[in-house]
Amino acid sequence: MSNTFDLNAIVRPNILKLVPYRCARDDYNLGILIDANENNFGPAALFNGNLPFDTSIDSKNPLSINRYPDPLSINTKQKFLSLRNYNLSIHNLFIGVGSDEVIDILVRIFCIPQKDKILITPPTYGMYTVVAQINDVGVVKLPLNVENGAFQLQVDELIDTVCNDPLIKIVWLCSPGNPTGTLLKIDHIKKILESDYKGIVVVDEAYIDFVSTDVSMAKYVSQYKNLLVMQTLSKSFGLAGARVGFGISSPEIIQIMNNVKAPYNISTLTQTAASDSLSSESIASMRRIVSEIIRIRDHFLIPKLLNIKNVLDIIGSNDANFVLVRFCNNDRVVDNLFTIKLYKLLADEFQVVVRYRGSELGCEGCLRISIGTEPEMTSVIDAINSALKML
Ligand SMILES: Cc1ncc(COP(=O)(O)O)c(C=O)c1O
Repeated sequence: MSNTFDLNAIVRPNILKLVPYRCARDDYNLGILIDANENNFGPAALFNGNLPFDTSIDSKNPLSINRYPDPLSINTKQKFLSLRNYNLSIHNLFIGVGSDEVIDILVRIFCIPQKDKILITPPTYGMYTVVAQINDVGVVKLPLNVENGAFQLQVDELIDTVCNDPLIKIVWLCSPGNPTGTLLKIDHIKKILESDYKGIVVVDEAYIDFVSTDVSMAKYVSQYKNLLVMQTLSKSFGLAGARVGFGISSPEIIQIMNNVKAPYNISTLTQTAASDSLSSESIASMRRIVSEIIRIRDHFLIPKLLNIKNVLDIIGSNDANFVLVRFCNNDRVVDNLFTIKLYKLLADEFQVVVRYRGSELGCEGCLRISIGTEPEMTSVIDAINSALKML
């Protein structure tokens, strides 16, 4: 196991020195609450019963939205922990406005603009680079092994690169990957965690529920102080509009993230939606929906796609709620221009919107198709067949 990791050595000095924002409500939250310049008369808007919970003027009711939300979303964290069973506490959990906020906060904590760098493993999720660019942080690329859609880490090269460049503060791994749909090998990730790399390793598990939480790296955060795992309610829980993402790591890293975040980043409406989604009934419903998505993916969509003559292959190991489909032109040659035409025809003529991924490394000729309902997937197959006849 890595014994060279020193958190204080890689956090930006200004962040280490930060005195975080505090409010009276951190210490007291009962009685006549006149400490935060809220509106004690209640919300002025008349919601006509459209909100799923009580918004009455009750200072003891934390759901009253005339009050600022719980800054640490404690209730949501407790429910998430009982779902995941990782043997962790709320001090191991950060909640962000989607995983996208987690990505942004990590770059701001660890990377000095115009000096430090992150490492990504293309093809991968685009926000790691966007956030680095916004923060004026360099991006080093160490591609996945893309041969035959393997989409696994070139682990020795990666370790070599990060151990030889102390300015690389964060390594972003995406497992299962987007757009690869492929779970990374746990042994590879452990090898990086146990190497002499002095930065932090982030494993983005946005799609973990579509494989199995048994393969999640989150259970290792007590063992590896240089590990942070991201999860989200946007995918398996179907809560993309609420914006809830989790950072799971050591209490020391989580404390710094809490110091840096906006004081009330998660609204009461969102915390309530998240907590409701983590009730035992909602979790059972999530599991049913995930099974249905996997059934439609493996037993409906993939066989039908493979019957289409312009589908060359479905690449990656299909561990997520989408498939990566490689098309060929009528001469059976992979041809991005052909795939782009197909993409546009699907949207313009058939109102079927998929994602063109042909310009990503190892994804030439590919469209990424999310798994929808069976009737939707039937329409998608019909649309692809009709569009291909026009090409
Ligand atoms: C790999 C990956 N990480 C993170 C996200 C963003 O998740 P969130 O909605 O929690 O911000 C996505 C969204 O598509 C994703 O594919």
